[in-house]
Amino acid sequence: MYLCPYLFIESMSLKREIERRRTFGIISHPDAGKTTLTEKLLLFGGAIQEAGAVKSNKIKKGATSDFMEIERQRGISVATSVLAFEYEGIKINILDTPGHKDFAEDTFRTLTAVDSVIVVIDVAKGVEEQTEKLVEVCRMRNIPMIVFINKLDREGKDAFELLDEIEQKLNLRVTPLSFPIGMGYDFKGIYNIWEKNVNLFSGDSRKNIEETIEIADVNHPDLETIISEKAANILREELELVYEVYPDFNRDEYLEGTLQPVFFGSALNNFGVRELLDCFVEIAPKPRPKESDTRLVRPEEKEFSGFVFKIHANMDPKHRDRLAFVKVVSGTFERNTAYLHVRNNKKLKFSSPNAFFAEKKQIVDVSYPGDIVGLHDTGNFKIGDTLTEGEEMRYKGIPSFSPEHFKYINNADPMKSKQLEKGIDQLMDEGVAQLFTLELNGRKVIGTVGALQFEVIQYRLEHEYGALCTYENLNVHKACWVDPKNPKSEEFADFKRVKSKFLAKDKRGQLVFFADSAFTLQMTQSKYPNVHLHFVSEFEKHSTVK
Ligand code: G4P
Repeated sequence: MYLCPYLFIESMSLKREIERRRTFGIISHPDAGKTTLTEKLLLFGGAIQEAGAVKSNKIKKGATSDFMEIERQRGISVATSVLAFEYEGIKINILDTPGHKDFAEDTFRTLTAVDSVIVVIDVAKGVEEQTEKLVEVCRMRNIPMIVFINKLDREGKDAFELLDEIEQKLNLRVTPLSFPIGMGYDFKGIYNIWEKNVNLFSGDSRKNIEETIEIADVNHPDLETIISEKAANILREELELVYEVYPDFNRDEYLEGTLQPVFFGSALNNFGVRELLDCFVEIAPKPRPKESDTRLVRPEEKEFSGFVFKIHANMDPKHRDRLAFVKVVSGTFERNTAYLHVRNNKKLKFSSPNAFFAEKKQIVDVSYPGDIVGLHDTGNFKIGDTLTEGEEMRYKGIPSFSPEHFKYINNADPMKSKQLEKGIDQLMDEGVAQLFTLELNGRKVIGTVGALQFEVIQYRLEHEYGALCTYENLNVHKACWVDPKNPKSEEFADFKRVKSKFLAKDKRGQLVFFADSAFTLQMTQSKYPNVHLHFVSEFEKHSTVK
């Protein structure tokens, strides 16, 4: 078979670029140390020169009003949306995930664009609420996870107790790849099970590489002089238990999401971070194939395809500028090339696609699978949209979750109803909240994950669109997407008639049922067993009754 040399070289370089990419997210409960760890990883990659350079996207309470704080956070999170750097020939893309629970949905969407995650846990606090929720999403999708237990320089829980807690609360199967020697005041360092050496803790955060002492065997007498006889004996006993109780590390199981390696360290002191990074680049997955509605798409395929997982809009109120973040799934994305926007069936060309490097954006000519491209957009994109070279397929897997808070939204300035409509429309495309229209009277209802979003919407409608709105309370416990087994059945007709006051359509026209209490939900489910209700907008037809 004749293969054109140019095509051959092109496909080889695509393969090489895919092999060397690692795209991941760091998830944690706020304050566990995500920002600090991110910063230390960037320091190792040489992408930043000093600590304190990465801004925290945390919502700080107290200093300013909540919505001003959110605007500040929004500004920062454009800069930290993607932090890319090179480490030992590997191109690493870290996707930012807000830890604040009101922005959980942002994080869920970002998790559709990562190939693996690092979970950060505070040694003293153990497994916290946000970690549980986020890990559950990763577990459901079999995303490979590495756990980093942080703040070992402080007093915290016993290592075995923590490993137990992780197994039980997070439902993970763990295997430690490093183990702490002492803790808090007595913290001496870690034994690196993966590399088989001892790293001594100096407590000096300015040092980039801590003192690493190779010892082929923990029974070596040198260990006593290095960490004291008592500490050496405890470590030997603990390691014996580790080898007995926990499974050996197996990369395939890690990649399948059935085994999670655990590291210990102190991000603030830059301790244990290099070990984590070295192991990460070795074991973490390269860009993975992704399921579309028609087929499984592999990164190595020549034709470009990708999907929008995040939209940032109107950072500058004078310009309607939106930046759509596209994850490249297959092929190469090239500047000034026309791609099909599948939902609108329209070809679009991008003259200045952005790539991200540390906290800077720059225009790029070519991007590869695993990379994130920022596309300037005038209102074409919605979260979840697919771009291809012409193939009619849509990527799956950016569901909406049932919001937790609901309010009617009313127009407070009749002269500005167009502006209000446009504003609501665009904010919903960005994924700030969800809009529902009641079947009975056409009234509009906004549903959000956090209470904070109502303020954000009101503030942004006024400042970016010149529109005023008011809210009215609405008592809804859960919004459920309705999935009748037989849309023509008597049962479904009865459901629609009896529940007509509580039915609405989401933005995609899907039917949604507003249950006003957990009791109503339960009663409805038992009365209409063939009308399935889901808490997520994307579901396998009639699969689960939730
Ligand atoms: P987050 O992004 O997960 O919310 O956490 P972040 O990195 O901002 O860390 C939260 C707090 O924990 C920070 O302190 C940070 O300095 C501290 N921290 C992070 N890693 C370690 C560690 O290994 N050891 C110790 N002792 N502390 C750690 P802060 O006082 O809230 O903020 P700052 O004033 O230091 O920035």
